[in-house]
Amino acid sequence: MNATQEKLKLQLEQALVAAFGADFAGLDPILVPASNPKFGDYQANVALSLSKKLGKQPRAIADAIVDKLDVSEICEPPQIAGPGFINLKLKTAYLEAQLNEIQADTRLGVPAAKTPRKEIVDFSSPNIAKEMHVGHLRSTIIGDSIARILEFQGHDVLRLNHVGDWGTQFGMLIAYLREVYPEALTTANALDIGDLVSFYRKAKLRFDTDEAFQEIARQEVVRLQAGAEDTIHAWKLLCEQSRREFQVIYELLDIKLTERGESFYNALLPKVVEDLEQSGLLVENQGAKCVFLEGFTNREGEPLPLIVQKSDGGYNYATTDLASLRYRIQQDQAKRIIYVTDAGQGNHFAQFFQVARKAGWIPDDVELVHVPFGLVLGEDGKKFKTRFGDTVRLRDLLDEAVSRAYADLKARLKEEERQETEEFINEVARIVGISAVKYADLSQNRTSNYIFSYDKMLDFKGNTAPYMLYAYARIQGISRKGDINFKELGNNAVLLQHETELALAKYLLQLDEIISTVEEDLLPNRLCEYLYELSKKFNQFYDRNQGVQVLEAEEPQRTSRLILCDLTARTLKLGLSLLGIQVLERM
Ligand code: ARG
Repeated sequence: MNATQEKLKLQLEQALVAAFGADFAGLDPILVPASNPKFGDYQANVALSLSKKLGKQPRAIADAIVDKLDVSEICEPPQIAGPGFINLKLKTAYLEAQLNEIQADTRLGVPAAKTPRKEIVDFSSPNIAKEMHVGHLRSTIIGDSIARILEFQGHDVLRLNHVGDWGTQFGMLIAYLREVYPEALTTANALDIGDLVSFYRKAKLRFDTDEAFQEIARQEVVRLQAGAEDTIHAWKLLCEQSRREFQVIYELLDIKLTERGESFYNALLPKVVEDLEQSGLLVENQGAKCVFLEGFTNREGEPLPLIVQKSDGGYNYATTDLASLRYRIQQDQAKRIIYVTDAGQGNHFAQFFQVARKAGWIPDDVELVHVPFGLVLGEDGKKFKTRFGDTVRLRDLLDEAVSRAYADLKARLKEEERQETEEFINEVARIVGISAVKYADLSQNRTSNYIFSYDKMLDFKGNTAPYMLYAYARIQGISRKGDINFKELGNNAVLLQHETELALAKYLLQLDEIISTVEEDLLPNRLCEYLYELSKKFNQFYDRNQGVQVLEAEEPQRTSRLILCDLTARTLKLGLSLLGIQVLERM
């Protein structure tokens, strides 16, 4: 990697720090994007913050810094404004050189991680025999995007599906099926997931109301844990059934995942309790084995325990998570473990992280991150449900998005008097529909709740998938119209004159910064915002009145502008691919 590929902001920061001299190494130059583009591109506020400490006027400090500041390759001569802001304006020649460079780079100037890490993204993770719900949809979409970004950065990513495939619910379900539908426990494909879910509900009802049944169900759990052949066989069939249904959703969404469910860690659970006992953390509380937590109290203000083994000897969700955490650190050698679940599980993660830390199981170089997200709400602001008040099946939800995209496209074709094959229409509808669902989710700050609205997500205006896809297809339309091969535009031909060209150019160069921010804070909505802004900048550049001519322009401007078109399209395509969204050449 050469110097010009080094992150621009970092370069400027380093130059500023260098200007202070050795005494100030490690100082933050407080470099931010300029508040007003009239003054330049960046502004450093450090002189103001140092004033008190040095007992000098900020302007005098700014003068001293600028005196020594060497950014002449990148910027116009720095200007001092107001009480002591240092304004930096990027040189046009520098921007041109940078764009020439990323034009030739398939990664568009985004350097791969210098030190690739092993990272685990634990996402999707539905529960067997229960329906996958919208919460799992969010986890799937967000987790996949995070995994894609980390993979693109060159990390070694393990995508884990921590499915709920073990525990008391199976005792209940198997006991119930033995009674009402024993074939389901011996014959493959005897059930479909719809039946499975309704059997599960009935089994649960029975369990909650019938003591004798409770006992039978418990024995069934014991048999499962002891590995009794017929029970294990039945359990496997039930898992198969659910898995097939989950797979349909993953295929529709183009999601790759490695299944490693709760059952995988079953044999490791006793050792977790044993080791906690060894480390002196374990306390017996009313027959249950637990670890008392710091910072968590019940309503009476008493410390809260995390139960790792129930009084009946059974283990729970937290015990499994402790076992899986150890496995991921020791066997998988993960350096960062990312869990993508609804915010409601925040305490669960904080608690078992705490216990694992106290037990000394987390090496200093391992980072644990819970990535929480908010609820999906209906347009009435309440929990997302069907018109009949049932939970929405994900398959129906995705089908609906695709069929609405199909209807919209048909209407548009009619209006534009365009003829397209049914194959084309189906393909466009599928991509637009699925992308709309993904993008609507990813474009929200994940920590807030979001309102699910087909109308909004399929709108061609605004920060939506159709808008972004259209921006991309429109640029490909330019190449078709002018019969231009974007790959053969030549090198070193970028020439920036018009202000919309400069604005677009600067924006194109920020991709690396955005991606590395998302790599840290794991907020894909920042990437969405960036892509949205980029397409707006492009539209201003391509605008008949405000912008410039492209196909009709004279050389050498024409080629340069076509390169800007191509770079915008490639940035959109790459950015969208990191969100799990496929582009369309035509739509
Ligand atoms: N199966 C859980 C649920 O449906 C999510 C599991 C998340 N991952 C974990 N390691 N706890 O809520």
